[in-house]
Amino acid sequence: MTSPTFKRAAVIGWPVAHSLSPVIHNHWMQVHGIEGEYEKITVEPENLASAVEDMKTKGFSGFNVTVPHKEAIIPYLDKLAPLARLMGAVNTVKIDVDGTTTGFNTDGIGLLANLEKSLPSWPRDRPALVVGAGGAARAAALGLLNENLPFVVITNRTRKKAEAIAQDIGRGRMVVVDWEERNDVALTAGLIVNTTTLGMHGNDALELDISKCARDTVVYDIVYQPLITPLLAEAEKLGLRTVTGLGMLVYQAAAAFKVWFDIMPEYDAALRARLEAVFQ
Ligand code: ATR
Repeated sequence: MTSPTFKRAAVIGWPVAHSLSPVIHNHWMQVHGIEGEYEKITVEPENLASAVEDMKTKGFSGFNVTVPHKEAIIPYLDKLAPLARLMGAVNTVKIDVDGTTTGFNTDGIGLLANLEKSLPSWPRDRPALVVGAGGAARAAALGLLNENLPFVVITNRTRKKAEAIAQDIGRGRMVVVDWEERNDVALTAGLIVNTTTLGMHGNDALELDISKCARDTVVYDIVYQPLITPLLAEAEKLGLRTVTGLGMLVYQAAAAFKVWFDIMPEYDAALRARLEAVFQ
């Protein structure tokens, strides 16, 4: 029997075995003296509705949602926070004591927080270039559109997906550029964010010519397996400033922890060491 103060949270996904979220949340629970556990729960698509009901009856404070459920879960939730509605995707669910479920999306917050904490002086005087048009690209674009940049450029192999993002959230401040023209745009961007799966272990590298970028350009890759992707390695070699994707994972988690426990946790040295150990 667990005590009534025991807090439960989890990540649901399919597959979910490799998730690092338990390392992060269990660390913070320990730091903040919260007696409880953050678990990984494999949920196959056909069991999504019953999984949500299960979490309610088993006393979970909330849970994270990962692939392939981020969009599919929406019909099973009672409420949606504004960012989740704009994103059309949920990565965090809060369960109130009366069982009411609210969907949040902290991916964009995490992406921007990582950039702000890593390189607060990233250039805002030139456009940002978002490469890709999946869920992560939408999160990046939403975050960057709040940053008072001249505009946000988006490019994707499948152009119509980039157009859909610009239309849904762009407020006239997003420009879609053909995939074949991405090198020209990279030249003038102050920030380049790779949100595609290119560069991930087992995938091809992202082909992007950054050799003529201004020296103060920041290259941000949300892929964190490997931590230094071929794109980041190239940027480092050229002397450009880089941001790795691991921090995004940590800061989206921090925002979720705040939703559940009303505490904003820190990316402290001990957590950094624990995560870096995973990548040794
Ligand atoms: P997420 O929601 O996690 O961002 P996703 O929806 O699967 O993931 O998006 C993956 C992104 O990587 C897409 O922008 C995809 O481009 P398409 O929309 O054209 O599929 C991009 N991507 C994946 N493999 C690619 C490749 N070989 N070349 C170019 N882009 C690729």
